[in-house]
Formats: sequence, C-alpha cells, structure tokens
Amino acid sequence: MEETKKLGILTGGGDCPGINAAIRATAKTAIQMGYEVIGIRNGWRGFIDNENKILDSHNTSGIIDRGGTILGTSRWSPFQIEKGPQRVFDGFKKLGLEALVVLGGDGTLSCASRLYKMGLPVVGIPKTIDNDVKETAYTIGFQTSVQIATEALDRLRSTAESHPRVMLLEVMGRHTGWIATFAGMASGADAILIPEIPLDEEGVEELCRMLGERNRRGTTFSVVVVAEGTELEGKTVGKHSFDISKKEKTYGLGGIGNVLGELIGRKTGLETRVSSLDYIQRGGTPVAYDRSLATAFGVKAAELIRDKKYGQMTALKGNKITSVLLEKVADGVKTVSLNAYRIAQIFFG
Ligand code: F6P
Repeated sequence: MEETKKLGILTGGGDCPGINAAIRATAKTAIQMGYEVIGIRNGWRGFIDNENKILDSHNTSGIIDRGGTILGTSRWSPFQIEKGPQRVFDGFKKLGLEALVVLGGDGTLSCASRLYKMGLPVVGIPKTIDNDVKETAYTIGFQTSVQIATEALDRLRSTAESHPRVMLLEVMGRHTGWIATFAGMASGADAILIPEIPLDEEGVEELCRMLGERNRRGTTFSVVVVAEGTELEGKTVGKHSFDISKKEKTYGLGGIGNVLGELIGRKTGLETRVSSLDYIQRGGTPVAYDRSLATAFGVKAAELIRDKKYGQMTALKGNKITSVLLEKVADGVKTVSLNAYRIAQIFFG
C-alpha cells in the first residue's frame, strides 16, 4: 500500500493577520490532494523541540478570520546553534515529511532558502506587516496593518483639529516605510517620514517650517506619521526588550516618534502629542484583502508542493499569483517605491 504523503507547515518570525487564512488554505488544499498535514509549532524550533500537531479539515476550519497563528511562531533560527540545520533535517525525517511550507518574512524565508540549498524540500509564503519581502507586490498582513494605521490617523485628525495640535503617529515597518506611506496617503497625512528618506537637520527644519506655515495660514492642526525605522541624523531610535529565546536584551526599534515630537514642539512652539501603534497594528482579524491573498498563496503553495517545485516562494505580481525563486528574496529587503511616496508627498503641507 502506498505510504501517505506528509506535508509540514511552519510559521516563523513576527506574527501577522492572515497567517491562519494561509494555513487553512494550504492544509485544506493539500488534504484534498491526499496529503496528511502536520503543523510544526513555534517556527523552526518545533523541529528541535519535537512540537507539532496534525492539521485536519476540522481544526483548520473557522480560522480564516483569526489573527495570529494557531501554530505559534518564534524568531529562532537553526543557524544560531551548533548543528542546528542538521537537527531540523533530523526532525523533518523523524516526522516522515515529504516537503515543508514555510510562512515567514525576510528572515525566516532566508533561512528556508539556505536549508533548501542544503536539500530541504521547501516552499515559502511571504507574510509580514512590513511588506518588505522582495519579488512580491504585497505580503500577507500588510493591508490589515495599513487599515489599522489609517483608522488611527483618522481618529488622531479629529482630536488634533479640536485642540489644536500636531499629532504624531509612530508605526512599525522595521527598516522600511511601507505602512507609513500607504496609511499616510490613505489618511491624508500632512507629512510622512520613512527610513528610505533619512532625516537630517535640514529635513527637520523643513518639516518644522511646513508645520509652522500651516499654523500661520490658519490650519491650526497637523497629522504626521513616522515609521519606526526612520533615521534621524544617521541614527535609528531603539528600545530594549528582553528576548527569552536569546536570554539577553535585544534592541528593538521604537521611540522615534517621541524624539521627533519633542523636537517639533520645541522648534515650532506648537502643542505636539505622540502616539505609537506598536503591536496593535499586528493583531486581530485580517481584512478581506489579506484573507483572499493568504488563501490564494496557500493554494499556490500546495500546488508547488504537489508538482515538487521546491525552492520557490508564492508571489503577487500585478494581480497575478505566481511563484519566484526563494533565493531571490533571501538577501535584503524591498524598500518603498518612491513613486508611491511622491504621490503622497503632493498633499503634504
Ligand atoms: O517584522 C514585523 C515587526 O512587527 C516589525 O514591524 C517590528 O519592528 C518587529 O516585528 C517587532 O519585533 P518583535 O515582535 O520581535 O518585538
């Protein structure tokens, strides 16, 4: 009797809305193709800790609208320990897997690409609110974070108008400004600050001049969105957090909003207040777009596995779902297209 084909699925890196929709689509499509599907828990660690669970049509139903990931995730990489990759291969073999689908951002997918070159039959699905994975127009989670940030900016505008004040909102995005650019454009922000356009002293002066000018001509409020990775005079602003997986303090991005808010208030004399969305922009139910993108990516990933087209990542090119070589996304990130930024810039000031 033919042995049942087994497919593994894991989610690595930061969680985001839409991951569960992708798990659902990958698992249900693979089950229809005759696979038994095994979810590896907490990212690559699940192979080391032997933590996994069978995914069936029952426990992958009713999750399309759930935020986070039912498998758990971690930022742990097998390349950070001695013989880590070998232990992943051993875990893979122990489960009797034929192949693996990996949902990740640039870090997890780079890891997947390295393991593929070492012989692991893997297919990637790009997910991150940052939208900084190369070779795909959008990543799962991005549109939801843009929607959350846009709603926050709309709310800040109403309170800015009432006081009147300059309201700053800090959003995530790591070292790119996709969330800030799209949410800033959608909410009509008066200025958008992103890592792709580092702020120097002159840039800060120009921003303050614009805000002061608005005030002088009677528009007594402004809304400014700043991406967390924006550099101020060549430096990013960070915060310390304790990462148990590394048993040490790690240095996360965050805090540029407060630094900039203080500068603006001092230089313009305008009342300035700062908000930060932090993890709120990464939680909760995915918008319809992300559910559909995740579903289409999940089906495509299952088809790539069926056809043994490993070393590929599902991708959105224009409005077409396709696939690209995983190695092409392994190094570096996709920065904001300055055409998009220039469109938003028309409405600054
Ligand atoms: O990569 C997604 C992301 O939310 C980034 O936008 C942010 O800088 C980072 O994760 C935060 O990392 P952590 O969840 O480890 O604090």
